[in-house]
Amino acid sequence: MSENTVFHHYNITRADREKQLNQRSFVLWFTGLSGSGKSTIANAVEQKLFDSGYKTYTLDGDNIRQGINKGLTFTAEDRAENLRRIAEVAKLFVDSGQICMAAFVSPTLQDRKIVRDIVGDKDFIEVFVNTPLEICEQRDVKGLYAKARKGEIKNFTGISAPYEAPVNPEITVKTENKSVEESAQEVFNYVINHIKNQS
Ligand code: ADX
Repeated sequence: MSENTVFHHYNITRADREKQLNQRSFVLWFTGLSGSGKSTIANAVEQKLFDSGYKTYTLDGDNIRQGINKGLTFTAEDRAENLRRIAEVAKLFVDSGQICMAAFVSPTLQDRKIVRDIVGDKDFIEVFVNTPLEICEQRDVKGLYAKARKGEIKNFTGISAPYEAPVNPEITVKTENKSVEESAQEVFNYVINHIKNQS
């Protein structure tokens, strides 16, 4: 309920924080199937940015669902709420002057549109981690696909719940025949270019 609340403006602005940190802030949003490599690539990209002196933070679906979003399920409604909250959190990180990475399955076009609208189009870079379902299922790092096939997990993305590929993402990484390092380098190159164009 936001009724009876009045937005309070603080002295220190995003621009002040960006100036102090000597960078421009934005969100790098990774979408893709479970096991596609979102978190692994985000981790490697963050390491590169960190090593280059940028201030970053990464929000990760599996981690967030053990913390602030504990209690949300994988129904369409709960995923929408999961992503809405994360978009709001990512927006706060942007306001704090940091580069915020987010790695979430975020399976529908509609939910990702909402996320982009919350963050603001000019601060939002969508990274499609494009790994075919067969490969994710073959890898099955967490053993979840096997469980989903046996019907032990309901609403599992790619098996019993939809994944709608992005239509016009800023970056697509086809991971199939690439190392993590190569995929991360592609994203990093795009980001560095984006940073140069911002300044
Ligand atoms: S999202 O759809 O709401 O964006 P999120 O990224 O937070 O999903 O969480 C996905 C992670 O939760 C997966 O990487 C996987 O480890 C785990 N998971 C558990 N159940 C499911 C499910 N039904 N569908 C997809 N991922 C699931």
